[in-house]
Amino acid sequence: MDQKALVGILVDSVDCFRELARVKLRLLLLSALGLLASVFGISSTRIVDKFIELETPIAKAGILANIGPDGLKSWGAKAGVVVASPSNVFPNYVYTWTRDSSLVFKLLVDQYTHGEDTSTSSRTLIDSFVASQARIQHISSPSGSRLTGGLGEPKFHVDETAFTGSWGRPQRDGPPLRATTFITYANWLLEHSNSSYVVNMLWPVIKLDLDYTAQYWNYTGFDLWEEISSSSFFTTASQHRALRQGSILARKLGQIALASIYENQADNLLCFLQTYWNPSAGYITSNTGGGRSGKDANSVLASIHNFDVEAGCDPITFQPCSDRALSNLKVYVDAFRFLYPINFGSTVNAAIATGRYPEDVYFGGHPWYLTTAAAAEQLYDALIVWDRLGALDVTDISLLFFRQFLPSVKVGTYPSSSNTYRVITASMKNFADGFLIIIRKYTPADGSLAEQYHRLTGNPISAKDLTWSYAAILTAFAARRGVTSASWGAKGLAVPSVCGNGPHVEVTFSVYATTIWGENIYLTGNVGALNNWSPYYALQLSANDYPTWSITLRMPAYTKIEYKYLRKYAGITTWESDPNRSFTTPGNGSWVLDDSWR
Ligand code: NOJ
Ligand code: NOJ
Repeated sequence: MDQKALVGILVDSVDCFRELARVKLRLLLLSALGLLASVFGISSTRIVDKFIELETPIAKAGILANIGPDGLKSWGAKAGVVVASPSNVFPNYVYTWTRDSSLVFKLLVDQYTHGEDTSTSSRTLIDSFVASQARIQHISSPSGSRLTGGLGEPKFHVDETAFTGSWGRPQRDGPPLRATTFITYANWLLEHSNSSYVVNMLWPVIKLDLDYTAQYWNYTGFDLWEEISSSSFFTTASQHRALRQGSILARKLGQIALASIYENQADNLLCFLQTYWNPSAGYITSNTGGGRSGKDANSVLASIHNFDVEAGCDPITFQPCSDRALSNLKVYVDAFRFLYPINFGSTVNAAIATGRYPEDVYFGGHPWYLTTAAAAEQLYDALIVWDRLGALDVTDISLLFFRQFLPSVKVGTYPSSSNTYRVITASMKNFADGFLIIIRKYTPADGSLAEQYHRLTGNPISAKDLTWSYAAILTAFAARRGVTSASWGAKGLAVPSVCGNGPHVEVTFSVYATTIWGENIYLTGNVGALNNWSPYYALQLSANDYPTWSITLRMPAYTKIEYKYLRKYAGITTWESDPNRSFTTPGNGSWVLDDSWR
């Protein structure tokens, strides 16, 4: 607010009678607060500007150094392979993870398609990433081959061979994250009339990832931190996004039948996504297993990576400015306030160092650069949307979040011309910058970013030069500049009216079936959880107790289920004989079926 307006309010308040004067005085206080926030903001803004200027080229170079074959720290990685970190001992991160690589190239594709980095080397790098991922998809690993679940394998050697040691596998976020990066590139190429590369190179890779996702989304798997096997919000959100944008691309390419399969599963995922929201505590329970609180950067990363500026503050896809995601952000950040000694003594609403989740003990359990950057990024994303909408909403759900910035704020809609809007957005910008200032404070003079920084000393710890840390700081910087990624179809979505998100039970299907080498047993049936009688998307059972094949699935309670087993061998599908099998699920608990192939 400028001087003249302030003076105006002052003069008015002298003229008018008491009640009005009181209102005006409140306004005046608000403006003074806003002014203070922006004055205070100026110095921190400069600090952040300077940090961004210095760190941007370092982070970009840090990424390129870790990509084969020419990256200076890429350990002989094949062309287009992203090394997670050049640290080869304590911890050894000289591997390539599908998750890290896809998120890193999500940034590089954005930079290329936005015209921020249009160098031929950048295009060459992206194309070599595409070629490398196409090869990696064909590697058989302990998770299987590309047609039997192998795409869920989380990491490979940098020479594109399988890693066969024990690990938290499968991890089902890799394929949808890779699909998202490729689809963004494909859409841009189609707009620039290069459809042959899309059809010949990109689409086959995308289709494998989407088919995998459509088939396995309802299976449990390891979370992005590779520790617990359950359902994970980040994974579900990534799967939903990939299938949603995948169905749009499939339609563009004339693959109508596939498009509707992807869309159908995206609807099922959108239903499932809602179940992670914990309304009484106001946060997203990021993992359904592991005995943790579920307060986890998992949810913040999901919000920023599924940001669609066209979707406004939509709560069902947990957009960064949605009341759910903002309430969640506060709960997440506060979980670290009294946990890490480097945060002690900060004021109750100051930005602090944040980590993966409060119960974390990996390397001693420290804050991470990429999670602290994610907190900043979510806030910048929210500011971008409100600026476009010209207003912000305070709801019952987000009230506590907003009260951090304006203790007197009430539920309501605040247009950008209001003081409330100005005060809140100015202090939120400051809050967001605060997270970057924390990162700056704990970044060594050479600008290098490790995986973690010490909870007591703030010194870098665990893997050095983590590629994902560099990508995460650059996406946060971009959001601060107001840059957004291409929309993916989140706008106007609605949770399907029939969701089956009511009570669920765990059902173990087990069937005695002798098979020949290379033959597998599958299951499908009359409900979404069994992929609606689709032989193509039938669920594969595991043969851990051969000749008994089994699978455990979440199924709606009190529901009549009809199902059948199938065999697949060399591309040929054989169904069990009629009639369909059937049973009714109980109201709670679990249920075990003990069948014999017929
Ligand atoms: C390595 C994983 O990458 C990391 O996320 C995990 O915390 C540790 N193993 C400990 O299980
Ligand atoms: C451990 C992290 O928990 C995991 O998310 C990541 O993929 C690997 N490190 C490699 O950076």
